[in-house]
Order: sequence, then structure tokens, then C-alpha cells
Amino acid sequence: MTENLTPAKTSPPRLIDDELDLLAELVPLAGRRLIELGCGNARLARTLLARHPDIELTGLEVDQRQHAKNLAAPQPRLHFVAAGAQAIPFDDASFDGALMLKSLHHVPMPLMDTALDEMARVLRPGGWACSMVFSGPERNPCLTTLMGTALRHAGLPPRDPYQPGGLLSLGRPGHVDTLFREAGLRDVATTTLDAPFELRSVDEYVDFVKDSAGPVRELLAALDASAAQAAWTDITTRLRSFEDDHGWHGPNELLLTAARR
Ligand SMILES: C[S@@+](CC[C@H](N)C(=O)[O-])C[C@H]1O[C@@H](n2cnc3c(N)ncnc32)[C@H](O)[C@@H]1O
Repeated sequence: MTENLTPAKTSPPRLIDDELDLLAELVPLAGRRLIELGCGNARLARTLLARHPDIELTGLEVDQRQHAKNLAAPQPRLHFVAAGAQAIPFDDASFDGALMLKSLHHVPMPLMDTALDEMARVLRPGGWACSMVFSGPERNPCLTTLMGTALRHAGLPPRDPYQPGGLLSLGRPGHVDTLFREAGLRDVATTTLDAPFELRSVDEYVDFVKDSAGPVRELLAALDASAAQAAWTDITTRLRSFEDDHGWHGPNELLLTAARR
């Protein structure tokens, strides 16, 4: 049976406050066996399971610390496996849908093609794949501030925001679409999402970044405690420009790409 994917729009950016609502619009979820590659703290996976009581989800996580935390909080229908997207320990055609939410750009560039081939391999024919990556630097000033400040404190020169391996490395229009097609996926379509963070304060955002496995934390982990503290204080001060009397509103633009095998 072929799935009926809703065609995605490319512009203008769509304002969303819940990426899972949009996912439910774009791809069929009910009763599906899903895999999330790079599930992180599994916040989205757990919410998805709560909203759809008939799906099974396997969350792959490559970061051992995060994987251990996930295992410590078991949940019915949620299975955690330690692995990267470049080597998925499942048979061909094991899943109806594969998700890579804000994780594709974390796959090391030399492993990118292998990871996408792997994602396609574990999908059944007609199954769907869906990724979400950050778009360009001008639409994601919080990320450029985070990275720029972290690099300066680490004594490193500024980087091209699209540099392979960076948070925005897949943000050029059409880049993910090309990668998906090269992996043999079809009906590829990307929707641009305006998904601003709405938090009570800048501190909430900085705590979230500190808690995420990612390049900013890695850069600052190499510093001694007082230098790292100075860097986090500087980051917080700079990001406070997005705060007003009503809270912290961080611009955040994403590209959601959906396709089928
Ligand atoms: C920002 S988190 C996203 C977590 C979750 N998907 C979400 O949207 O909330 C990015 C995740 O990508 C994971 N990651 C890093 N390298 C990866 C790889 N080679 N394959 C799959 N995931 C990877 C990281 O460990 C991290 O958990």
C-alpha cells in the first residue's frame, strides 16, 4: 500500500508552536512502527506516544550519557537502542516511518550518505522519512550568537555557519532534498517553519542548551570551570536581547523535509 503524504509547502514560512501537530498533518502516524534517529532526551518521542496510543517507537541515541538517562525512564511502546544513524541495528524494511528531528545535522559529514542510506534501508517500501534541520544563519540568530560566543571563549576563529558538521550546515534551501533523493527517497518536499522559542526567560533557553549534547557544550567543556562560567555568562547576556517584559522570544527557523521510500 502506498502512503498518501500531504504535499508540503515551501513558502512563506509557516508559524508553528508544535512541530508534532505539523508532523501529524504531513505523514500518517496511527498504528505505525516508527524509529527516531537521534532521539536525545526523547521529549518528542514521549509526547508522540502519548498522543497516539497505537504507535510503537524505537529511539536511537548515540550519546551514551543521554542513552543511559533514557533507559532509566522506561515507558511502554518506547524502545531505546544505543546507535548512530550511520549503523542502524535493524533488518531492512523494519519500520513504517523514520524521524530525524534536529539530529541529521549532528551526523558527521563523512557518515552522512551512509546514515541516509541506512534510514532508507530500514523503511518498508512506501514508508516515510521526515527530518527537521535549522535553516540559514540570518533566520537563526540565537544559534549564531551561541556558536560565535562559544568559539571566541574557546580561542577559536569564527566559522562559516554552513561549515560541514555545524548546526546550520544543512540549512541551505534544497540541501536536504538533494541528500534524500540521493538516498533513493522520492516525493521529497520541504516546509519552512517559523518556530520561535517562547520561554519565561533567557535562563530557561541557556539551561536547555547546557542540557543538550551539542557543539556548544562540547566547545565549552574543554575550558576550565571559571572560563566556562564566563562563557555561559557572556552567552546569557547576549541572548538577553530577545527578552522583554513578557518573556524570552528566540527566533528559530526550521526546514521540515518529508519523503517516502
Ligand atoms: C538536538 S538533539 C535532538 C533530539 C530530539 N530528536 C529532539 O528533536 O528533541 C540532537 C541529537 O542528535 C544526536 N546525534 C548525534 N550524532 C548522531 C548520529 N550520528 N546519528 C544519530 N543521531 C545523532 C545527538 O546525540 C542528540 O541527541
